[in-house]
Amino acid sequence: MSSLRSAARDYVTLNRFILEQQQAHPEATGEFSILLAQIGLGAKFVASEMNQGALAGVLGATDDVNVQGEVVQKLDVLANDTFVEVFRYIELVSTVGSEEMETPQHVSAEGQGGQYFVLVDPLDGSSNIDSNGTVGSIFSIRRRHASDGEIDQSDLLRPGSEQVAAGYVLYGPSTMLVYTTGEGTHGFTLDSGIGEFLLTHPDIRVPDPGKYYSANEARYGHWHPAIQAFVDELRQQNYSSRYSGALVHDLHRVLLEGGLYAYPPTPSKPHGKLRLMYEAAPLAFVIEQAGGLASTGQARILDLQPESLHQRVPLFIGGRSEIERIEALLAPTN
Ligand code: AHM
Ligand code: MG
Repeated sequence: MSSLRSAARDYVTLNRFILEQQQAHPEATGEFSILLAQIGLGAKFVASEMNQGALAGVLGATDDVNVQGEVVQKLDVLANDTFVEVFRYIELVSTVGSEEMETPQHVSAEGQGGQYFVLVDPLDGSSNIDSNGTVGSIFSIRRRHASDGEIDQSDLLRPGSEQVAAGYVLYGPSTMLVYTTGEGTHGFTLDSGIGEFLLTHPDIRVPDPGKYYSANEARYGHWHPAIQAFVDELRQQNYSSRYSGALVHDLHRVLLEGGLYAYPPTPSKPHGKLRLMYEAAPLAFVIEQAGGLASTGQARILDLQPESLHQRVPLFIGGRSEIERIEALLAPTN
């Protein structure tokens, strides 16, 4: 019996886990099990295409540039279309917003039905694709406030603290789905033989202090002196450096082994690179539910009031002690 099978020997599937969690809430409608099952379905589609890689002709770039000004990879399109399609017919979701789409797409009639929005980064770390590196998908599920009528921006642009569920899928040596609904952070591994996500990492807690920091150190010379001093400290404390080019992958390591991921601002990217609504906020919810913190360096990510769907924010995310330290170093001195 493989270690995965023995770790999951009582075979708690994603669906069973959600249903068991809902039993503690008699008022629960069962909607989360449907929403998360659709995320899981999208993840299985994307993982399956990716496993074929060059054999299926899904690698390489398209001729398009996305709303962020980045070259669109074929798998970006495939993953985006997948995560839109899985919500199109289930009536619960009004609208899907994505890194790959300038404006959100209605998946119920004119966006008028459905009690939820879904925001996704369908393929995070897509520059890794052609070198067969790890990539991921990030999702954020938000409740709709206006109960009917077409959605407007004010309904969509709400702080991350209002997310009802968030998580990511990591397409690594195995495919994992990690999520929170505000009751801890839980990880599932795809058993491709039976096509089910099985609970392998219940109630993840971030080790604190950790062992690793992840940042693009080629930009060291462009960082604020306090950030340079922080990284210097980590080096002196024998932290090791790991940076994969995929936030989801680096964040997953932080969740399991501690430390932090940082994408600081630089003069050419004064707001950093990462997007608040479908990268920073969902991962902030995940890390906080695992005992960690996520910050711009000055403010809690989950408290930020978004101004636009594709807004960028500096991100420091990881163990409590590491994030508190960088916030202290960046705090204005009197
Ligand atoms: P993407 O969503 O377009 O892939 O961009 C986000 C990615 C993160 O996954 C990763 O940590 C970062 O961009 C890498 O950027 P850089 O090459 O500037 O270090
Ligand atoms: Mg991304």
